[in-house]
Amino acid sequence: MENMPELEDSDDVGCNPSTELSIAALIEARLSRRTVLKGMVAAGAGVLFGCPAPQGGKSGTGANSLTFTEIGRFLDETHHVAPGYEVATLIRWGDPIHADAPEFRPGKQTAGEQERQFGANNDFMAFMPLPRGSTNSTRGLLCVNHELDQPHLMWPGMSPQNYAEFMTREQCETEMASQGHSIVEIARKGNAWRIVRGSPYNRRISARSTAMRVAGPAAGHPRMSTRADVSGTRIIGTLNNCAGGTTPWGTILTAEENIQNYFTGDVSNGREAAAWKRYGVHGRGYYLWGRHFDRFHLNKEPNEPNRFGWVVEIDPYDPKSTPVKRTALGRFKHECATTAVSHDRRVAVYSGDDERMEYVYKFVTRDRYHPNNAAANRELLDNGTLYVAKFETDGRMRWLPLIYGQGPLTSANGFENQGDVVIEARRAADLMGATPMDRPEDVEAHPETGRVYVVLTYNEQRKPDQVNLANPRGPNKHGHIIEIVPPLVNGKPDHTCTECAWEFFILGGDPRNPEHRASYGGNNGAAVSANGWLAAPDNVTFDPQGRIWIVTDGQQDWAGFADTAYAAEVSGPRRGVTRGFFASPRGAEICGPAFTPDGKTLFLAIQHPGDEQGSTYDHPSTRWPDFKPDMPPRSAVVAITKTDGGDIGS
Ligand code: FEO
Ligand code: CA
Ligand code: CA
Repeated sequence: MENMPELEDSDDVGCNPSTELSIAALIEARLSRRTVLKGMVAAGAGVLFGCPAPQGGKSGTGANSLTFTEIGRFLDETHHVAPGYEVATLIRWGDPIHADAPEFRPGKQTAGEQERQFGANNDFMAFMPLPRGSTNSTRGLLCVNHELDQPHLMWPGMSPQNYAEFMTREQCETEMASQGHSIVEIARKGNAWRIVRGSPYNRRISARSTAMRVAGPAAGHPRMSTRADVSGTRIIGTLNNCAGGTTPWGTILTAEENIQNYFTGDVSNGREAAAWKRYGVHGRGYYLWGRHFDRFHLNKEPNEPNRFGWVVEIDPYDPKSTPVKRTALGRFKHECATTAVSHDRRVAVYSGDDERMEYVYKFVTRDRYHPNNAAANRELLDNGTLYVAKFETDGRMRWLPLIYGQGPLTSANGFENQGDVVIEARRAADLMGATPMDRPEDVEAHPETGRVYVVLTYNEQRKPDQVNLANPRGPNKHGHIIEIVPPLVNGKPDHTCTECAWEFFILGGDPRNPEHRASYGGNNGAAVSANGWLAAPDNVTFDPQGRIWIVTDGQQDWAGFADTAYAAEVSGPRRGVTRGFFASPRGAEICGPAFTPDGKTLFLAIQHPGDEQGSTYDHPSTRWPDFKPDMPPRSAVVAITKTDGGDIGS
């Protein structure tokens, strides 16, 4: 999710002051608006930058493999799915996950209860088969992020305007317990999935109590030191866990996103004031934790914000394992952290910084992944190179290394070591001249072609004179998806590359409306139905047949209908032709699309149902999924199967 609505206008306007500079650079390079428009036309002809049409993927045969009946447009209290499919609620906010965990008590939940129950506002999901390393599709670990809390949908009597008057210390602590991550064993019999309550794998990881180790260049850095952790190596908790990823060695990466809303205090001065400003840390505290807990008070613990905004690695198969904040991957508002094994078995981790005018990053490991040596992979993410994306005016894109001592990343600019570079990755990227993007959400590599899909959800604040080749619409109300094309080495994608081709995969909006300037799959979108075009793309995944599944966050605002899960081929004549498969209840976004290895179950995380103007705990716009008068709307994971047991999408 993006920022809280109350803070939307004031805070998510972008914190990047270097935008003007890069536009000036573009103008200098004689990139006129006319050239950009020509680029759009070229994209429409499918020949932009001379990229060949992708050949990989099993679905590139020309036949339409997505044969499900497309759904219509909806905006109502419940979900909708294509005919012939079943939607079952698997687990909801507050459901007990341990054998002795208490049942959910709406409006009265305590922190202790919440830490033994499924967390709030589910986002990223992964299905990790059991046993480890198998491709079992009937038993596995559902690994789920819990991103945020909305007091007015969590507690009776509260509204977005008044909650700060009423929030108690216990309620703040319940919020802390509700964020983080859940690991829950699930099992399938026939078409029916159930959670295995009491499984020894089941685990809550929270912002409140879970100890984490810090690894990489920021571990032990003076700017990571607090009174509770002078060494700067041990942090309690992870928060605002948005999207994430999995690693080839069977761990989970959870991404800490909107960290700016958690801290209270005066941000006008202090040694971290400039860094707070660059990261949007405003001190007003959407969350009121700083009232009761010193570590969330900026003037008591000025380094605490530096301890969030990281990617955290979790081993879901070892319930006793300590999560590790992998600081080599940089600190920003991480939407995601998705991995791709390169031609030489080094591993790339792609990540977007989800804010208007922020950047796309990748980390490349120094060492190689060893498929048969788990111990050798344990610290892979601690050594390597962090890069930021620059989309050049010559139609190429380059990955610029963020290495202390190189280029502007020296003491002359306040960087004394690599720890400073990763703690202030945004400022390092500014100095390197990275390209400001339209809110980077998911960034995922196709498992067969290696093409990297960069999802840019929207940026209605980009002005016409702020467009660049990769973000050609100002304003951009519908979002777009870029496809980066890594070079092939011996037929395998080189994810370590520093220079790539790229093209547009989708420019969202209605292709029938010329004002939208939409494009689907590199053509004018004529094949996309009136129910198939999208806005506000957020997370994506690929099914076992190599097709892309795209879920949205914001269609209700930008297009007037509920957020939807779409599917499309990535190659062939129906490349990029999205088709609506599932629509969410009103006020929700759809997150975490995840398939079982056999492609016969699709899990979707339905986040914040009923989150819209005027909707509160007492008077919600929907009570999905329970529809009971004493039960508020609850975020929940649904399992979608085909009634006849067939593949999802058929
Ligand atoms: Fe939490 Fe960028 O969505
Ligand atoms: Ca979003
Ligand atoms: Ca998101």
